[in-house]
Amino acid sequence: MSAAIGDGALVEGQLLPPIRVLAAELALSPSTVAAAWAVLVRAGAIRTDGRRGSRVATLRPGPSRYRRALERPTTPRLDLSTGTPDPALLPDLGPSLARLGRRATAGRYLDDPTLPELAQALAATWPTPAPSLNVVDGAMDGLDALARQTLRPGDLVIVENPAFPPLLDLLDALGVRIQGVRLDDEGVVADDLAVALERRPAALLLQPRAHNPTGVTLSPRRVEELAALIEGTSTLVVEDDSVGDVAESPPVSLARFLPGQTVHVRSFSKSHGPDLRLAVMSGPPSVMTGLTERRHLGQGWTSRLLQSLLADLLTQASARAQVEAARREYARRRAAVIARLALRGIPLPAGEGLNLWLPVADETAALVSLAAHGIAAAAGRPFAAGGANGPHLRVTVGLVDDDSDAVADLLAEAAAAPPVRGPR
Ligand SMILES: Cc1ncc(COP(=O)(O)O)c(C=O)c1O
Repeated sequence: MSAAIGDGALVEGQLLPPIRVLAAELALSPSTVAAAWAVLVRAGAIRTDGRRGSRVATLRPGPSRYRRALERPTTPRLDLSTGTPDPALLPDLGPSLARLGRRATAGRYLDDPTLPELAQALAATWPTPAPSLNVVDGAMDGLDALARQTLRPGDLVIVENPAFPPLLDLLDALGVRIQGVRLDDEGVVADDLAVALERRPAALLLQPRAHNPTGVTLSPRRVEELAALIEGTSTLVVEDDSVGDVAESPPVSLARFLPGQTVHVRSFSKSHGPDLRLAVMSGPPSVMTGLTERRHLGQGWTSRLLQSLLADLLTQASARAQVEAARREYARRRAAVIARLALRGIPLPAGEGLNLWLPVADETAALVSLAAHGIAAAAGRPFAAGGANGPHLRVTVGLVDDDSDAVADLLAEAAAAPPVRGPR
């Protein structure tokens, strides 16, 4: 189909034959054609319009979940919609850049793609012993490369519900089917995973700590439970530790129990700065070798200059102290909003990380209520991953540096706002 679209045999907007007609023509069962259609829809090659049939899609995708999650009508006074770190809490790059300036060189092609000093700096805090570490241009770059390397259109991937919208967009773009599993205070619900594993998923994608948007961290007990369920299957476990060094919990990974089928990715965007574009990943050689080799055909490796900068930030006392201070400050900001919400009759689990998953009566009404006070938050709907969550907002409380009681009061008011009714 893609080839036919590419060489013009099928043109954008062209009506495709009904499933039954095509099935008869190809001597296939209608369900086979319907399944193929579903894969093409997920891959964005065609779109179906109910009874009006299916057409070749135009190459102009509508707003993705990612864009929708960030949509807001006006420039807010306080933007809590972004999920991004507070620039004021990132470590100062000046001293590290100065040190780097005295010894750095950009003159080498053939060195090891992973800077040995960086691997050394990370070894002690990596959740598995003696890891072989690969550096990528941010967690999303690593997950994108991994997904392309290991998943095929039509594969089934288990994701947490709710999930990080760009990750769902990425899976959609690859034509992958998703199944959501619920989270409780200890992480992925084991019973849900057991049921989902019966469908022989290619991968399980999870956030091991400070889950975005809920703030949930996997408990040690749950890690063991999940690993026991997955052991003996061929499902690849992919862990996206996006909060990294500003999480309060120690690093956590199923790799301790499933080293041959777990890939662990730690981002440095929240702890050291998103524009460094750095994440580090480890995984079984059966996966990582192919990924590294494929990368050589594209960008090759992640700049070792940036790797040196991160290695310096991870080893110098003052930068380490700043990251530790940021960790404490995020925890303080989060706890302050949660304590006030509890007083206002909205008890939420403590959790950790930059975001709060706030249950609301109605998402639109809650966003309008906050906007009236110049505050933006993200609607919960783009985070939905196959299953009902009830209406929520994702609120980046990591950015509430001041007046947390007043902000929490407005959040409580927004949570109770009844649905906005249109004119009759
Ligand atoms: C769950 C999750 N994964 C990945 C990312 C992106 O990380 P990076 O900047 O390293 O690509 C984020 C950023 O907010 C995130 O929340």
